[in-house]
Amino acid sequence: MANLSRGTLLGMILACVAALVLLVGTGAMIAMKGSRQTGDVATVSIGGPFVLTSQTGKKVSSDALKGSPFAVFFGFTHCPEVCPTTLWEMSEALKQLGPDAEKLRVFFISIDPTRDTPEVMAHYLQSFDDRITALTGTEEEIDTVGKAYRAYWKKIPTDDGDYTMDHTTSIYLMDSEGSFSGTITYQEDPKVRLEKLRRLIAKGTG
Ligand code: NI
Repeated sequence: MANLSRGTLLGMILACVAALVLLVGTGAMIAMKGSRQTGDVATVSIGGPFVLTSQTGKKVSSDALKGSPFAVFFGFTHCPEVCPTTLWEMSEALKQLGPDAEKLRVFFISIDPTRDTPEVMAHYLQSFDDRITALTGTEEEIDTVGKAYRAYWKKIPTDDGDYTMDHTTSIYLMDSEGSFSGTITYQEDPKVRLEKLRRLIAKGTG
């Protein structure tokens, strides 16, 4: 009997220990999950350093942009609609900004560097405001800048054996310190778009 009760007691203690371990373990997991989430929120940042090549073959470094706000978006010259529309709309916005446009840089970064050489981009940009700078680079350079901006893109094969690209359509607004300041969404109301750009410029020079 004594043996049995000792066995029962031991069993109960083991069960308690197991429950405690489970509890502590679950608690730790929740705490870890919590801290990871908090960490994510604290470290979410959009933008980062880059060195890319412009349509004229010149290196453009984000370091050299310190002090002037800029708008940047990702796309590709074979884009059937979104990119030409965005480039056209930004060209219009630059015109409407008047002299203030000189205080803003606008960048179109290719996410299709295989086809978008500086020459191809130079030719493509002739249809738009010449204050817009196109940027391209190696696959690695483009991947780095895309990740920094949390931009998405995906190669989509087409029936003719070619491909198109699905991609992020937002325009990122970066202030004079290179910090993310907001976005302009695709086909945003022209008045809102202009207001956002004016605010970005005012922030950069105020
Ligand atoms: Ni596009």
